[in-house]
Amino acid sequence: MAEHRSIKSVTLAYFSGTGGTKAIVSCFQTLFTKLGITVNIAEISVDNLRHEAPPSELLLVFSPVYAFRLASIVERWIKKLPQTQNTLAAVISVSGGGEISPNTACRVHCKRLLTKKGYHLIYETMLVMPSNFAVQAERQLNLQLIHVMPQKAARIVTEILSGNINLTKPRHPDRFFAFMGNAEHFGAKMFGLFIRASEGCTQCGLCAQQCPMKNIQTQNGIPRFGFHCIWCLKCIYGCPHNALRPGILKFSVLKTGYHLTEMSEQAKSLCDMDDTPSKSILWQGVIDYLQQGSSAEPD
Ligand SMILES: Cc1cc2nc3c(=O)[nH]c(=O)nc-3n(C[C@H](O)[C@H](O)[C@H](O)COP(=O)(O)O)c2cc1C
Repeated sequence: MAEHRSIKSVTLAYFSGTGGTKAIVSCFQTLFTKLGITVNIAEISVDNLRHEAPPSELLLVFSPVYAFRLASIVERWIKKLPQTQNTLAAVISVSGGGEISPNTACRVHCKRLLTKKGYHLIYETMLVMPSNFAVQAERQLNLQLIHVMPQKAARIVTEILSGNINLTKPRHPDRFFAFMGNAEHFGAKMFGLFIRASEGCTQCGLCAQQCPMKNIQTQNGIPRFGFHCIWCLKCIYGCPHNALRPGILKFSVLKTGYHLTEMSEQAKSLCDMDDTPSKSILWQGVIDYLQQGSSAEPD
């Protein structure tokens, strides 16, 4: 039986491109706050790479999965953290596909970096949100993912505070894929370099303001893209006029756009008894995730 962990303060450090991870962090913030635990939030971007994580007893790092590993900006942020001694840490990855191969090794590199910094890892897990990359599961499945997220988050908080240790072993071949995910970093830079504003651009400048990598500059109001993109898709899906077009690797952008706020509204009217509607092999990781117990009580 695990011992109860008495924690008074947590830091929730996260990167989010299209809002899925941010929604999860906001849910964790509410849960910890309700328990009387002080919550510090550190939103990771190129602007705050040198900022220290606010001191607390537990650091939770949240990141989307990009090409079978965590966002490169999150890895860079961890590398800049000051050395610590045995501060507790947990890593929560957020994917569109679930804890399937080759995703199972996605947290390995960040865990190693945290350990090098002196953190004591106690917990890791995968949460799933609707995919923003290339293909999406059917609508009902996406709504269910959003619907169960608060229950999954409550369960994780309960487990962490109960003193449970949850450290997983990735499948061996997946370590190779996670290592190869490094190549995606170059692909991401190329992807960003070739994004163009179409005629629909109203020169509002929102993309430049919101880019977490400061990769977009405006020249006479027209957005121009540099070589620091991490392929988070925030600019393309966030453009209010749908005016940004990828020049290469076009398959990565959902033709219908990514409408998390709209899906979240629709998910509110879903009821718990809804059957998992899909039997698609492609979304097996998502189906498995939805079928795993989603009550706040650990098994
Ligand atoms: C460039 C890119 C690569 C991705 N690679 C993976 C992947 O390897 N496995 C996966 O399950 N999901 C992958 N995804 C999907 C995201 O992890 C998922 O949609 C996540 O919820 C996005 O989080 P965010 O909304 O906080 O940005 C990828 C998304 C992008 C943009």
